[in-house]
Amino acid sequence: MRLLPEGGMSIERVQARIDKERERFVSDLVSVVKIPSISSSSAHKKDVLACADYLAARAKKAGFERAGVFPTAGHPAVVAEWTKKKEAPTVLIYGHYDVQPVDPLNEWTTPPFEPTVRDGRLYGRGAVDDKGQVWAHLLACEAYLAETGSLPVNVKLLVEGEEEIGSEHLEALLTKEARRLEADFVVVSDTAMLDRGRPSICYGLRGLAYFELELKGSSTDLHSGSFGGGVKNPLHALSEIVMRLKDASGKILVPGFLDLVRPLSKDERDRIRALPHDEKTWRRPVGIPATAGDPDFSLLERLWARPTLDLNGIWGGFQGEGAKTVIPARAHAKLSCRLVPDQTPEAIFECLDSYLKKICPKEVELTFKQLHGGLPWVADISHPSFAAAARSMEKAFGAQTCYIREGGSIPFVRTIADATKRPCLLLGFGLPDENAHAPNEWLDLENYQKGIKSCAYLYDELARLPRE
Ligand code: BES
Ligand code: MN
Ligand code: MN
Repeated sequence: MRLLPEGGMSIERVQARIDKERERFVSDLVSVVKIPSISSSSAHKKDVLACADYLAARAKKAGFERAGVFPTAGHPAVVAEWTKKKEAPTVLIYGHYDVQPVDPLNEWTTPPFEPTVRDGRLYGRGAVDDKGQVWAHLLACEAYLAETGSLPVNVKLLVEGEEEIGSEHLEALLTKEARRLEADFVVVSDTAMLDRGRPSICYGLRGLAYFELELKGSSTDLHSGSFGGGVKNPLHALSEIVMRLKDASGKILVPGFLDLVRPLSKDERDRIRALPHDEKTWRRPVGIPATAGDPDFSLLERLWARPTLDLNGIWGGFQGEGAKTVIPARAHAKLSCRLVPDQTPEAIFECLDSYLKKICPKEVELTFKQLHGGLPWVADISHPSFAAAARSMEKAFGAQTCYIREGGSIPFVRTIADATKRPCLLLGFGLPDENAHAPNEWLDLENYQKGIKSCAYLYDELARLPRE
């Protein structure tokens, strides 16, 4: 008989235990989804803190040796550690406990912070983004510790409270706690699978640059009879500007915007084309009649590896009941760009700023400001830890793992990748249509269970990689 490698027996016991505890895992997640940890809302500051406290206490109960709430200049982060396996590698698991706002509230079938199970799904704000995925790791560690008294690797859990608002203060904490957070691998579960039944490793994220624009015409609103025809209307000036940002096909017209875009290799384009992705299945659940965008690139290339420029909001002037004859004093817009390597938020600000100054009608005064931003990230998947992560998901899901990129952003992934030069493994257990950031966010409970199993397999796989 062939001898099992070290850990080979215990991982099967851990998996059997995970199978038995399925029901409890759901109610356990419900307790944290209940906490309204909306990071962008000052009214919820106490709830955000309560969520951090709850998570630290829960990590101690799971068997972590140390767990604490670490203050930052914004919302705190939670760090939990189990580091008893001195000869084994160390895994830093990163996620976030903060959630997005819940409006429009009347579109929720059940209230966002009263998590409810329907049809094998858990509905609630944060169910998939990212509490459910953080819980998958927490529960896998707990199962390991309960069944075997130890973990196959050292684990450091870093769960922050400001991901949804740009992770502005986490880099300072990483610098301050560099020793405590030292690791051989970084693991993140905050992304989605390519599709149902397609476990996926994400090796690229887009960056983000967020802006606010204001046009001022006059010092106060004007009677449109007394002034109409003699002044520039800032809402019209804004419309003229907006029309010159992109053409009808979706090509960005801002000079220099694409200069830093690293072209896709033929190899990567081939790999993306070979992925099992169906456009109809992708667009049907969100009600899009047809796709749009630069025709020189495929849908997945446009979503993952091309930059965007999007209006997020545009407002100004009269919006009340009935009619009001007025020329508004001001017009406003929020716009943001998703970035790809090697673009930076600063370079994008510069080229937008100078283009806006050039095309802005001279009768209005322009203010253009940068809000938060984050750098794009792409990994070299040849490191053997990627194959190990792929195997761990294959064992749990019983299907081949896809290598994908994502169009969304997790700014801290690039920060920690640059700071530590360690492989960053993004194992996502979400689905593209689980309504993250939208009303009726949900988590598929089958994927939650398989996610917990994947995490346990992952720790075992990483422990058995040859040391460098
Ligand atoms: N989990 C998401 C990132 C994500 C989105 C991954 C879509 C995969 C697909 C994350 O919580 C998020 O929403 N990030 C923000 C970042 C921003 C606020 C700096 C985003 O992408 O808008
Ligand atoms: Mn997230
Ligand atoms: Mn999010």
